[in-house]
Amino acid sequence: MPISTYQTKVFPLLTRLDAERAHRLALHGLHMAGRVPGGFSALGRDVPDRDPRLSVECLGLLFANPLGVAAGLDKDAEAIDALFALGFGAVETGTVTPRPQPGNPRPRVWRIPGDEALINAMGFPSEGAETVRRRLFGRQYPGVLGVNLGKNRETPLEDAARDYAAVLDELWPMADYVTINVSSPNTPGLRELQRRDALRELVAEVQRINRWKADVFSLSPRPVLVKIAPDLDDTALDEVLGGAIDGGISGFIISNTTTDRSVLTDPAMELPGGVSGRPLRTRATELVRTADARLGPANRLPIIGVGGISCSSDVIERMRAGANVVQIYTGFVYGGPGLPGQILTELSEFCEHEGLSSISEIVSS
Ligand SMILES: Cc1cc2nc3c(=O)[nH]c(=O)nc-3n(C[C@H](O)[C@H](O)[C@H](O)COP(=O)(O)O)c2cc1C
Repeated sequence: MPISTYQTKVFPLLTRLDAERAHRLALHGLHMAGRVPGGFSALGRDVPDRDPRLSVECLGLLFANPLGVAAGLDKDAEAIDALFALGFGAVETGTVTPRPQPGNPRPRVWRIPGDEALINAMGFPSEGAETVRRRLFGRQYPGVLGVNLGKNRETPLEDAARDYAAVLDELWPMADYVTINVSSPNTPGLRELQRRDALRELVAEVQRINRWKADVFSLSPRPVLVKIAPDLDDTALDEVLGGAIDGGISGFIISNTTTDRSVLTDPAMELPGGVSGRPLRTRATELVRTADARLGPANRLPIIGVGGISCSSDVIERMRAGANVVQIYTGFVYGGPGLPGQILTELSEFCEHEGLSSISEIVSS
């Protein structure tokens, strides 16, 4: 992949700032670009024309291409238009909590440039569902909008379902799909919701609100996905898949960040939180493959693959492992705004070279 000006000039400048400040600045820059005349076309100058071979039908939705923005990059829906202008086929906003909360004290995001990784211990900073609703209200986007639901830190686990349901209640009309996030390592106890019984009840409650909202608006219920951790052994994975299916899930997002430091070149690094980016790639791909195999053809549900994707061959590898579409976060931070356009161009070339009429033909099973 060619080296971009972003990588040689902009990223080195951004690295002089604390990682979270740099992120806020970049997000603000994207947002502002959309406000000046011609800003979106400037943002989208590297984006190829829409290629019908890249469009993917998944979850009953039409994705213009398989490349989406992962949750956490635009937590409060501040730059969604700009992210679509860069070429992404989907954007997942959130994690949104019912009430505003500050998250963990800063610093809470660190770059590990040698590994092209990030470590974050954000703990769901969120402006809250009401603010995000106001920002999204009445907007139409040129792609699929996902909303990632979470719980407030102080809400006890036994009441967690009420929090997820409250965010869904607030944001239902704006979401094309919703994600139940039970896999962030930075909210104490959250990953316990991946246990079979807990997850079945949580998914069932979210689906109850989902059906009720669908009735109120005379529309179809939204697809509901569960986002899982990469740190699950086979037994724990079976619990998650089983619990989610029992509760009536529509699909899975695999995966969130890992708490395992052995994936880093320097495993002794003493920072709290989850690792994302390149070191997560193999593990997240394997988990997609394993989940796909364990679900089997009879229970095959859509999978959104995320973790360590940074180029077109990573997208192809993840789809071959069983992901219907993919998402990116850390690779975009290191690769910059030209990356989505570059990946889409290369995916089109891949379709041409392989004689594919649809990129979905490479998805396993
Ligand atoms: C700084 C940061 C914040 C994140 N916040 C969230 C979040 O709020 N909700 C969520 O589901 N995932 C969150 N994630 C996880 C990403 O969505 C993604 O699953 C993970 O980073 C792996 O993808 P990547 O290797 O492409 O970054 C966050 C990741 C990072 C790096």
